[in-house]
Amino acid sequence: MLPGFTLPWSTNTEDLRRGSGQILRQLSGFPFQLSLPFERLAAHQSCPPDSLVRTWVRGQEKVCSAPRMIPLLQVQDLHVAYISRAGKESPALAGVGFDVRPGETLGVLGESGSGKSTLALALPRLLPGNAEIQKGVILFEGQDLLRAEPRALERIRGARISLTFQEPSLALHPTIRIGGQIGDVLAAHESLSGGALRRRVLQLLAEVFPGDPERIADSYPHQLSGGQQQRVLIAQAIACGPSLIVADEPTASLDPTTQQDIIGLFRTLREKFNLSLILITHNPALLAGLADRILVLYAGKVVEIGSTEQVLTLPQHPYTLALLQSVPGRLDEPAKGRKSRLPVIPGEAPNLAALANGCRFAARCADRMELCTKREPAAVAVSEAHAVACFKYGG
Ligand SMILES: Nc1ncnc2c1ncn2[C@@H]1O[C@H](COP(=O)(O)OP(=O)(O)OP(=O)(O)O)[C@@H](O)[C@H]1O
Ligand code: SF4
Ligand SMILES: [Mg+2]
Repeated sequence: MLPGFTLPWSTNTEDLRRGSGQILRQLSGFPFQLSLPFERLAAHQSCPPDSLVRTWVRGQEKVCSAPRMIPLLQVQDLHVAYISRAGKESPALAGVGFDVRPGETLGVLGESGSGKSTLALALPRLLPGNAEIQKGVILFEGQDLLRAEPRALERIRGARISLTFQEPSLALHPTIRIGGQIGDVLAAHESLSGGALRRRVLQLLAEVFPGDPERIADSYPHQLSGGQQQRVLIAQAIACGPSLIVADEPTASLDPTTQQDIIGLFRTLREKFNLSLILITHNPALLAGLADRILVLYAGKVVEIGSTEQVLTLPQHPYTLALLQSVPGRLDEPAKGRKSRLPVIPGEAPNLAALANGCRFAARCADRMELCTKREPAAVAVSEAHAVACFKYGG
């Protein structure tokens, strides 16, 4: 994590490119050719660099003797497609893999349509009826969620994995008081009623509204601001003591100050309840002070994953670089020091129902090579626990 971190690349990306080049020169003696799936690379996060490098050179993953933390969540080779009425498949996630460790915050970054919400809904198996999980593994607390019985899934959803949605006004029932809505979540998983339920509701609301939980409990959603509604969703999310919260664009509809308040609240609750967090956003600036690692998603593929510092200060994939260049400067000074228009990523994301061969970013990539339109690049380690799917680094 990088508390108080700001985004230096918005006005001068040349420094950034020089930084990336320096890392590559330092590592130029290492063989990049050996590629591993993202989730297997990530599993080596706690290995010392030496043993990690030896592992790649010999092509054996188990050389490393350093202790490894067991992930809370492991996603491997996840494929999800939406099926149209005519039976046409649109692959929204194509081989996504990563892990989340206990107490870790993983940021998921990507532009609109990259598959962020599909991923959020796939984890607790809450995808709409026209979506199909075609392949993959989702291991959560040692349980294979893709093979779990419906009753087991019911026990996990809301209790062990909680989801918060992008638009709180749609997630809250307009005619039920806030206290009642939080009480419903508690009653579904715990045997509480009457005064005990009310006390627990107020206790939860006090976590997110330290000042006035009683007033909030007796309010209807329309009497609350967008930021207050998001706090209510967060209270619901922590109600049953989950180990993982998946927050899908929790600040998208909020002003910058309220966004920072909500990020601060996540930080506080994460420490207090030892939560793991998957924070989904299209805004890298929000991840700077919160995420331990960042996964970059493009057209249903993980194109880069690494520590927050690696991804935000030394991005390697051309898409990550372009995404970061399109971000305004410091959060607290959005316009200061910006002399020219922000660059935008040229072109559009590909039509998932009619994908061409090769790298999915090829049509928009200034670094495109002939190979890029022939086949898809695989994940390649560019430094410890930092992996990129791009032919510039092997792939
Ligand atoms: N219910 C659905 N039926 C058909 N296609 C869908 C459905 N939901 C999403 N898609 C498609 O799946 C792809 C990924 O969508 P998704 O909503 O996961 O992206 P996202 O990254 O969350 O985007 P945003 O930032 O706009 O929320 C898109 O091409 C989208 O059009
Ligand atoms: S693989 Fe090729 S097209 Fe894709 S991001 Fe890398 S350089 Fe660009
Ligand atoms: Mg979404």
